[in-house]
Amino acid sequence: MFFVSLQPKDLKMEIKKSAFTLSAPTVSQCPKDNKVEYAFIGRSNVGKSSLINMLCNHKGLAKTSSTPGKTLLINHFIINDAWYLVDLPGYGFAKRSKTVQKQLQQIISGYILQREQLVNVFVLIDVRHEQQKIDREFVDWLGESSIPFTIVFTKADKLGPVKARQNAERWMKQLESGWEELPPYFITSSEKRMGRDEVLGYIEEINKSIEAR
Ligand code: GTP
Ligand code: MG
Repeated sequence: MFFVSLQPKDLKMEIKKSAFTLSAPTVSQCPKDNKVEYAFIGRSNVGKSSLINMLCNHKGLAKTSSTPGKTLLINHFIINDAWYLVDLPGYGFAKRSKTVQKQLQQIISGYILQREQLVNVFVLIDVRHEQQKIDREFVDWLGESSIPFTIVFTKADKLGPVKARQNAERWMKQLESGWEELPPYFITSSEKRMGRDEVLGYIEEINKSIEAR
């Protein structure tokens, strides 16, 4: 007798398990197990921690706050016992002292440039705003440093789908000056759980391409 297990061909990736691993003050204190990782970066308060919680279906996994500047360390979350999501401190929070801002900049650039298992950076942009100089400079720096990245527009629920798409398209169009090839982008809302399948699907594609190597 044969037992045939019927499985859909394209099983969508699901996050079955997510847990906090550690908070590192610098890249040298990050986990040493060589699992691949995906980092989330963007201005303070843009919604990095909220997006990680939404992707993981796990409220309270990453600490969120309406007070900007909450995440000050490199926070690792282990997913399905196999790979990491990394919550980075936000940049560009003017109320921080110059010394702290400089320290954070060093933590962020040290992590991004030195972390070999980092396979993609998700740069979060609040979809409501015009392109800000600090975001543009950060994206240009990633490109110049040959770091693979994706743009993730956040808080789309605050605008509605049509306006959010228009803003995202305009933001991407502005990148064309100075860029031959545009990075992929996603429009999300952690509040409405929008864009979840797209971001997870993208991560799954990268995970698969690494396994196939
Ligand atoms: P720092 O760690 O301080 O850099 O901030 P962060 O980028 O991690 O932002 P966080 O996830 O803590 O969210 C900041 C604020 O924005 C919180 O009050 C969230 O509830 C709110 N927020 C985040 N994502 C969304 C969203 O998709 N929609 C709405 N309406 N609010 C959001
Ligand atoms: Mg945060």
